[in-house]
Amino acid sequence: MNDFTGQRALITGASSGIGAAFADELARRGADLVLVARSQDKLTALADRLAPLHGVDVHVVTVDLAAPDAGERLAAETTARGLQIDVLVNNAGFATHGLFADSDRARIAEQVALNVGAVVDLTGRFLPAMLERGRGAVINVASTAAFQPLPYMAVYGATKAFVLSYSEALWAETRDSGVDVLALCPGATQTSFFDVVGTDAASVGKRQTPQQVVATGLHALARRRPSAISGRANALLAKLPRLFPRAVSVKVAGRSLRPATAT
Ligand SMILES: NC(=O)c1ccc[n+]([C@@H]2O[C@H](COP(=O)([O-])OP(=O)(O)OC[C@H]3O[C@@H](n4cnc5c(N)ncnc54)[C@H](OP(=O)(O)O)[C@@H]3O)[C@@H](O)[C@H]2O)c1
Repeated sequence: MNDFTGQRALITGASSGIGAAFADELARRGADLVLVARSQDKLTALADRLAPLHGVDVHVVTVDLAAPDAGERLAAETTARGLQIDVLVNNAGFATHGLFADSDRARIAEQVALNVGAVVDLTGRFLPAMLERGRGAVINVASTAAFQPLPYMAVYGATKAFVLSYSEALWAETRDSGVDVLALCPGATQTSFFDVVGTDAASVGKRQTPQQVVATGLHALARRRPSAISGRANALLAKLPRLFPRAVSVKVAGRSLRPATAT
């Protein structure tokens, strides 16, 4: 699946970072696009650059995917514009850092709604038509955070463990259907992610570029893999927790993520 000419990809979180890099690379490979996020100005600028550069058709849909009716609105919008979605990239997501008991309830609910709720909802809306057509792809952006519990980023780690488990299960369910499902697990990547988190504590090792992450994802998709970790060092690090008792792994993770203010 290296050439995407004639296919349309819907990318969430396309206004920045890994999502914008997916938009760039999929357009370069011939895909028409639907760019989704909240920042209309950034999405429009990206669409205005990519459409003439690659001769592809690019639509922008501005929506807050943490809102309860977001999936319904997005699907209604693609239907109204007559857009068939052949590739779904569930990429939008964010993390928070700090003691769970002290965290902002609303921000936590938003995180679960975006990182988990929107992924399940949009997959549920677009996967059935792909299965009917006997072709398509769903790429869900998880994280190396999926491989062990993360104290002080407890909700984020759990949302990404969910995305990994959910995507690999769907990969098995859809294996003989012509539709590919992939969980893409980046490690630390050079994007706005850490500005949103407000700390670099979770940034382990040398940061990859979003382009490297996208290349890993599209390579793994072409090889019909259930999941892929981007970067050799990240792949090794992700395996480490399995070598130790869970209590040890979680304590080690907690030591490196502990906020300076925590007692
Ligand atoms: N960077 C890393 O180190 C890293 C590592 C592992 C996994 N990841 C995962 O990679 C994915 C992309 O993150 P990134 O690193 O590219 O970070 P980023 O540069 O901060 O991009 C996040 C994207 O999500 C969108 N978004 C945030 N809240 C949204 C909402 N409520 N509704 C719709 N869109 C929303 C943002 O757009 P608007 O603000 O315009 O809405 C933006 O386009 C996330 O799922 C993240 O968990 C990142």
